[in-house]
Amino acid sequence: MDKAYIAGRTPVRVDLVKGQKYAWCSCGASENQPWCDGSHKGTKFTPTVFVAEETKSVGMCMCKLSEKPQFCDGNHKRIKG
Ligand code: FES
Repeated sequence: MDKAYIAGRTPVRVDLVKGQKYAWCSCGASENQPWCDGSHKGTKFTPTVFVAEETKSVGMCMCKLSEKPQFCDGNHKRIKG
């Protein structure tokens, strides 16, 4: 697995809670998107672990092409096909 799987072609909106720790799936293989479920084991990918700085609703990247992971930056619009 050289490239991440495209888990979705649009972001998913989630409600983050300030101070809570999250692990965003960077490989696209998780069945619990956008969160890591351990499916990356044996690949070069690792989850992006972060603590929410504030309680708010955010768009999480599902295409795994964002240049500002773990958040959507609109790069899913460049997916062809
Ligand atoms: S399952 Fe994708 S990074 Fe863990």
